[in-house]
Parts: sequence; C-alpha cells; structure tokens
Amino acid sequence: MSNVLDDASAAAIPGFPMPRAAGCPFAPPPQLRRLHAEQPLARVRLWDGSTPWLVTRYEDQRALLADQRCSVDLRRPGFPHMNPASREVGRRGNQPSFLNLDDPEHARIRRMLSGMFTIKRIEALRPAVQRMTDDFIDTMLAGPKPADLVRTLALPLPSLVICELLGVPYEDHEFFQHHSEVGMRHDVSPEVAEAARKALLDYVASQIDEKLAHPADDLLSELAARVREGDLTHPQAAAMGLLLLGAGHETSANMIALSTIALLEHPDQLAVVRDTDDPKVLVSAVEELLRYLTIIHLGNRRIALEDIQIGGGTIRAGEGVVLPGSTANWQDDVFPDPDRLDVHRDARRHQAFGFGVHQCLGQPLARLELQVVYGTLFRRIPTLRLATPVEKLPFKEDGLVYGVYELPVTW
Ligand code: HEM
Repeated sequence: MSNVLDDASAAAIPGFPMPRAAGCPFAPPPQLRRLHAEQPLARVRLWDGSTPWLVTRYEDQRALLADQRCSVDLRRPGFPHMNPASREVGRRGNQPSFLNLDDPEHARIRRMLSGMFTIKRIEALRPAVQRMTDDFIDTMLAGPKPADLVRTLALPLPSLVICELLGVPYEDHEFFQHHSEVGMRHDVSPEVAEAARKALLDYVASQIDEKLAHPADDLLSELAARVREGDLTHPQAAAMGLLLLGAGHETSANMIALSTIALLEHPDQLAVVRDTDDPKVLVSAVEELLRYLTIIHLGNRRIALEDIQIGGGTIRAGEGVVLPGSTANWQDDVFPDPDRLDVHRDARRHQAFGFGVHQCLGQPLARLELQVVYGTLFRRIPTLRLATPVEKLPFKEDGLVYGVYELPVTW
C-alpha cells in the first residue's frame, strides 16, 4: 500500500467521525463498518484536515495498543488530535495528563493512582453509590413528568461519586460540567477550547492548594501529599486531577443515558435486567452494553514512532493512527451476531475500555456505577419509558464521548 497520496486519492479520503445511519443510533456508522470489512487500514480526514490512518480490526487494534512503537504523546507533530483543545495542549507544549504520556513516565504516575482504583477499594463504595442512586431516583419521582434522565440521574450520579472520591465540592458541579463539555467538543474555536481547559485546570490547581493547606481523606489530598514529597510537580498533579474529574463523570454519564435508551428499545433484554436476582446477570449486562455502545466514538489515538506493518500496509514513523473501538466490538468473528444486544453474552473481551498500558484506570468505578444503576432504575420504576421517540432524541455527535444531550422519560 502506497503512503504517497495523489490528488484523486486525497479527495476520496472519508471524513471521520462518520455519520450514523438514520434510525440506528447504536450501530457504528455504515461507512465505518464498510471500511472494517473491506479496508482494515485506511486513511481518514479529521476535523483539522489531517489524514491519519484508521485501523478497524479487533486484532490489529490490540496489536497496536500493546505496541511500544505507538506513542500517546500529543505534543508530537502529526498526532491525530480529537479536538482543538487537544491540539492547543500539543502546540503550547502544556503538561498533558498521564493519559498522553508514554512509559516510563506514564507507568510511574499510573502506579501512584492504581492503588486508589483497585476493585476492592472501589467495591467498598457500593453502599454509598446505591444510596446516592436511590436518592436521585427519589428526587426524580417527586418532581414533574416528563423528567430529563440526564439531569436527574445519569450526570449527577457519577459527578457526585467522583467529587466525593477526589474531595471536590459537588456545589461546583455546574462549573466543571459545563467547561469539560465545552473542552471536549470539536466544533469550538481553539481559543474557546483552551479557555475552558485553563479554567478547569486553574480550578483543580486551587483545590490542590486547598488540600496542601488542609489535607483530608480523599484522592486530591493523596496527590497533594505526592507534590509535598516531590514525587509530582504541582502542574502534573493538577493535570491528573483534571483527567479524573472529566473522565469520572462524562463517560459514565453517557453510558447510563445511552444504555437506558438501548434497554428501553429492547424490552426483552430490559426484562432480564429488571427481574434478575443474580448479580452475575447485571455484571454481564454491563459488559454487553459497554461493547454494544462503545461510547468513545472518536476512538483511541496514537502516533507511530517507527514504521509498523499492520492490516496489509505500513504505517510510517510520524503518522497518526485512529483506533475506533466500535468496529472491534462489532466484529462478528469475535462477537457473533454483533448487532444483537444480548445481556447473557460473554462480552468480557470488549475494547470499550481500551487495551494495553493505557487501559481505563477507572473501569472498576464505571462498572460499579453501571451495575448499581441497572439493578435499581428499572426495578424502582418498572413503567419507565421514553417521553420522546428515539429518532427525535438529541444524540451527542460532537463530543469526545457519544451520548445524548437530554433524555426525557416518563413512567
Ligand atoms: C463507561 C465509562 C468509561 C469508558 C468507556 C472509558 C474508556 C476509556 C478508554 C477507552 C481509555 C483508554 C484511552 C487510550 O488508550 O487512549 C480510558 C483511559 C482512562 N480512563 Fe476511562 N472510561 C470510562 C470511565 C472512567 C472513569 C469513571 C474514570 C475515572 C474515575 C476513568 C479514568 C480513566 C483514566 C485515568 C484513563 C487513562 C489511563 C492511562 O492512560 O493509563 N475512566 N478510559
């Protein structure tokens, strides 16, 4: 496969992300599925005009995500940026979060956090997450109908959970929810994106100052202690806190909202989730919905450090790579009959949380939140239904994470 583009082939390069088919809000876009079937290594055009490689097959994605010749460092020229905010960080040479640092620095920082996200430590939060879920549902039931499930449960629950874990005042949630939403869009100007990121970073930095002065039993205080001991610089700690704050609510919130729609659209599967007394069924439903929805629709991003042979071609050193988890998670020789939502399916090999050293650190927390919500919402409100037809829902195509802006429900 040639790496030199003539004018005709440059003009034929499809844009990414691609539009989903009308009436099919969950399936990966048809054009993306076609590339997966016919051209597992293909060029795509991003929002900024750049043309990185798109790698769509499950086994190729796994190989690249585990390959040390692929870097996540967004300061490298040629990195395939998700949005203007990411490009600005790269241009200005700002401190990226450890998600965008390579080993060994990434591993050093990740080790500091991994003890705080062990399954055991997160599992201890289950009673608190259950209580919060019940409280938000109580408030929704006491309020007017229809209710917006995004504002009443999907967003506030993970937001409150991550605030408590980090030790950030929940009263500030409107401020950071607004700015992280703006910062993740790819249709805003670089100035607006950078201003949103800077406002958030300053906010987290001031919270770390507060913890340096008044340590408490929370995660930001643990990061502040590392700053005091000289293991982390103040900007590194702020970038880590910011990543956790953003990743901690945007992702789970969109998963809760989208999976509620998916289950309401599949009443037989919803009945299994609602009527089960077996926690294993909830565990498996969460994995299947993570696979089915694969909400990181802009894919994982990498840049090749050396020439790499993959998918029948060569990615040259310095070229960007986009890896959309959705095509891997809908590959029929890995997940037979992938279009079918089947909560009994063993979907544990899915790539919704990525793969390799950068695999999602917050996955035990996301799983816990989703298990509690699925096990509570439909039981407590068995008549829950959409108040707006699915084709009229405002799906979130312009953010880093796929989801809905609002979800009117009634009961
Ligand atoms: C359903 C919810 C979630 C999904 C689908 C998700 C997905 C992902 C994916 C795909 C990656 C890998 C990115 C890459 O390789 O480039 C990742 C990394 C990460 N996620 Fe999540 N995530 C979720 C929830 C969370 C939560 C709740 C937190 C925090 C509390 C979190 C924190 C992180 C962090 C810190 C990383 C970077 C890990 C590293 O670079 O070592 N995530 N996530």
